[in-house]
Amino acid sequence: MKHRRRASLFVCIAILLVALWTTGTAARRPVRARHGMVASASAIASRVGVEIMKKGGNAVDAAVAVGLALAVVYPVAGNIGGGGFMTIRMADGRTTVIDYREMAPGRASRNMYLDERGRVIPEASTIGYQAVGVPGTVAGMALALKKFGTLAWEDLVRPAEKLAREGFPVDDRLIRSLRAYRSVLSRFPDSRRIFLHNGRGYREGDILRQPELAATLRRLMEYGPDEFYRGETARLIAEDMARNGGLITLDDLKSYRAVERRPLRTTYRGYEIITVPPPSSGGVALIEMLHMLEPYDLAALGHNSADYVHLLVEVMRRAFADRAAFLGDPDFSPLPVAGLISRAYADERRKTIDMMRATPSTEIGHGDPLPYESEQTTHYTIVDAAGNVVSNTYTLNSGFGSGVVAHGTGILLNNEMDDFTSKPGVPNQFGLIQSEANSIAPRKRPLSAMTPTIVLKDGRPYFAVGSPGGPTIINTVLQVILNIIDFHMNIQQAIDMPRVHHQWLPDRIVYEPFGLSRDTIEALKRRGHTFANRPRYMGDAQGVMIDPQTGMRLGASDGRRGGQAVGF
Ligand code: DON
Repeated sequence: MKHRRRASLFVCIAILLVALWTTGTAARRPVRARHGMVASASAIASRVGVEIMKKGGNAVDAAVAVGLALAVVYPVAGNIGGGGFMTIRMADGRTTVIDYREMAPGRASRNMYLDERGRVIPEASTIGYQAVGVPGTVAGMALALKKFGTLAWEDLVRPAEKLAREGFPVDDRLIRSLRAYRSVLSRFPDSRRIFLHNGRGYREGDILRQPELAATLRRLMEYGPDEFYRGETARLIAEDMARNGGLITLDDLKSYRAVERRPLRTTYRGYEIITVPPPSSGGVALIEMLHMLEPYDLAALGHNSADYVHLLVEVMRRAFADRAAFLGDPDFSPLPVAGLISRAYADERRKTIDMMRATPSTEIGHGDPLPYESEQTTHYTIVDAAGNVVSNTYTLNSGFGSGVVAHGTGILLNNEMDDFTSKPGVPNQFGLIQSEANSIAPRKRPLSAMTPTIVLKDGRPYFAVGSPGGPTIINTVLQVILNIIDFHMNIQQAIDMPRVHHQWLPDRIVYEPFGLSRDTIEALKRRGHTFANRPRYMGDAQGVMIDPQTGMRLGASDGRRGGQAVGF
């Protein structure tokens, strides 16, 4: 009897050990599927993408449909009134970045957000009509489709149109974000009526219908994407702007162009990194940081140990100082991108890192070559059955953008103008200090931190990831990449792991609840680091990995928010 009990105990322990050994981690496992996978901030939108792929569409077709669907079901950040970047790698090896970043209106000017005494006018660049950049999303989706898609435009708009017309159930997350932005949304009549239910507010489970947005989407289906820039929609936007002191004209809309840009590329420990070039700073900073980190044995330092966090922070501090000094719209002034992403430059930058002492940001400068919530931008990643990969980040900038719905269109408009330098040396809403390179000029694109990235292993797509979070985007993508490559985590665990953030100025480490032990924080303080008063969650990464052994698509949606990976 005793023997039998001991034997069964032994068997139990053995089973547990084998289970632990075969699953490898105590973390959530990614969602697995054979053919295709969409990881996005909304289960509804992810399912839209899967349906498109089931009907024979590729990852780019799905990306267009998901982008438009998110504009309906995830209005805090999903949009057709904003802009973003889409990094694409086709299975045949072609790569590109679709830059559909917003543009300053033709009448925008360098000091438009300063009063007569040269002070930044509060809210001018963040709330209301003057904060809006010319939206790029519709043009960006259309360009991606034209170059790499296979299905008809109207079939990709249709799911979004249906969601807008028939409505979808309001969930607790949407209610929370609507509450958080209530005061901004209530200033604009259409926004108040649509998103605040005329001030009555929504309850969980209510159906949110957006008939004007549905009508706009129907016009886009019928007349094509150009309708947004030249048709009735353009006219409605321009008229509303003119009535309310906004700067965007019909001519601005007609002149808007989404463009293809050559992705930035490098290798990190033999993995190929394909990422976004300016006017996002994300790719430049990511590559500069990876280059600075490559010579170190990060795994040996220990994940989120004092040594590891110290090193990450020192690297972040340097890359963000360079971002502030040098980056802006490449169409307006030459940028030293080649220098910033060269290994020789990283070698020089690295030499100033002291492992025992934080370098105060005031001493850093650049080299030679907030109240905050992180659901205000959104990323989705898609892999199809053929192995085409799309990594897309787009945004209205703040939650619900400028707060403005252009009258009669149902379209929430961005406040991307705040990503420009309102005044050199004065921080923007993300606390970022910016330079002349990012000053406002007519038809210029504001500097971004969005970092939709694709990583290859042995020449084949391995994983793709991106995140919202303003400046924290870049460091979120960095840490997900390090977690996978240096710490061998699965993509879900790599995304779930607590992150840290430093952006040069303000000179402090931002960390997540339960992210760093007290001992670690004390050890870092002894090296001269300062910390944000309170920890807070950062980012909402959405990633898909392709298992190199089995080819399975492994989808991972960040546990910090309510997203969902769906595959088939
Ligand atoms: O382009 C950028 O860097 C910003 N407009 C992104 C804003 C953002 O991620 C907001 N929040 N989570």
